[in-house]
Amino acid sequence: MRNPRTSARSPYMEFAKLRSSARFNLATSGVMSYPLSELPVRLEHLEINGPTVYGYAPLQERIARKNGVSLECVVAAAGTSMANHLAMAATFEPGDEVLIEQPTYELLLRTAEYLGAVVRRFPRRFEDDFRLDPEEVAKQITPRTRLVVITNLHNPSGAFADNAALAEVGEIARGVGARVLVDEVYLEALFEDAPRSAFHLGNHFLVTSSLTKAYGLSGIRCGWVLAEPEVAERMWKINDLYGATPVHVGELLSVIALDNLNRVAAPAKALLKQNREALNAFLDASELECFRPQYGTIAFPRLRCGNAGDLFDLLTRKYETSVVPGKFFEMPQHFRVGIGGDPEMTAEGLKRLGKALQKFAAKE
Ligand SMILES: Cc1ncc(COP(=O)(O)O)c(C=O)c1O
Repeated sequence: MRNPRTSARSPYMEFAKLRSSARFNLATSGVMSYPLSELPVRLEHLEINGPTVYGYAPLQERIARKNGVSLECVVAAAGTSMANHLAMAATFEPGDEVLIEQPTYELLLRTAEYLGAVVRRFPRRFEDDFRLDPEEVAKQITPRTRLVVITNLHNPSGAFADNAALAEVGEIARGVGARVLVDEVYLEALFEDAPRSAFHLGNHFLVTSSLTKAYGLSGIRCGWVLAEPEVAERMWKINDLYGATPVHVGELLSVIALDNLNRVAAPAKALLKQNREALNAFLDASELECFRPQYGTIAFPRLRCGNAGDLFDLLTRKYETSVVPGKFFEMPQHFRVGIGGDPEMTAEGLKRLGKALQKFAAKE
């Protein structure tokens, strides 16, 4: 039998770290870096060690306030990545079934496998604009399912699931005694238009998020899980087996970032508006088939024919431009385009992508 511990790795993360960078980078899924020099930080605000035990109280308060939840429901974590890991580790045992959307963010799949889940899938279909369809969840859920996993906005498509659909999924999950994990890291990119977190739909919901994608603050690793207190408590104890104690400077910077979130959001909103217009103009002029998300930082077009892995090779080799091949989302005819980069770089990247697509179509 395959040992999940010794086969633990993420091909997507290896691609993202080692092969995705390019002069014109359309592979990233977050907004470009927010400069530290723009945050109102002075050296005397920072300290090496602090009073963190199970959380750093000022950070716990900010995260609780931002999400309108009580303190005991908040578990701060090193990015949404660790948040997802903790959420999964606390909600199922090896051998339990976990039902995950398809396509999805690869790390969710790999983490569930690593933790010993028997993974089942339910589809989010291109033909249906990648909609979260509760009926598809109902078809795949079983009495052994312990967790249903969803991204909102959906990675890779950017599709938005409203609270009515999420609540329906919640009822289906509750019917078999399962919980629902909603990764809301891209929901942050709706800024003030964001609906209330799915956490408020019931105590069987867990939500994960961070300041990584919408605010360009990946490096401070300000992530969190929202969960009912008993599950939150379990996650703090599991976290003792991992990093145990976070980087305190990161916690202090996270507090400052959360206190100044409107300032950080302003350039991100402007950039996304401009880049979305550029993306839509590019799609209008192209032969690609694409669900066009209203919000967020990514889109997931489909080639009329051919494999996006071959397109990627051509694009990086001849056009100094990168995207994410769809094979990392189990849909090799698609590729993911990120629109969180510098607008000039994004516009040039889209231009080059257009040229590469013409060349690619001529070859196919
Ligand atoms: C759905 C989803 N969750 C989590 C992450 C990781 O986020 P973080 O940088 O906050 O760990 C990503 C990054 O691509 C993602 O797409």
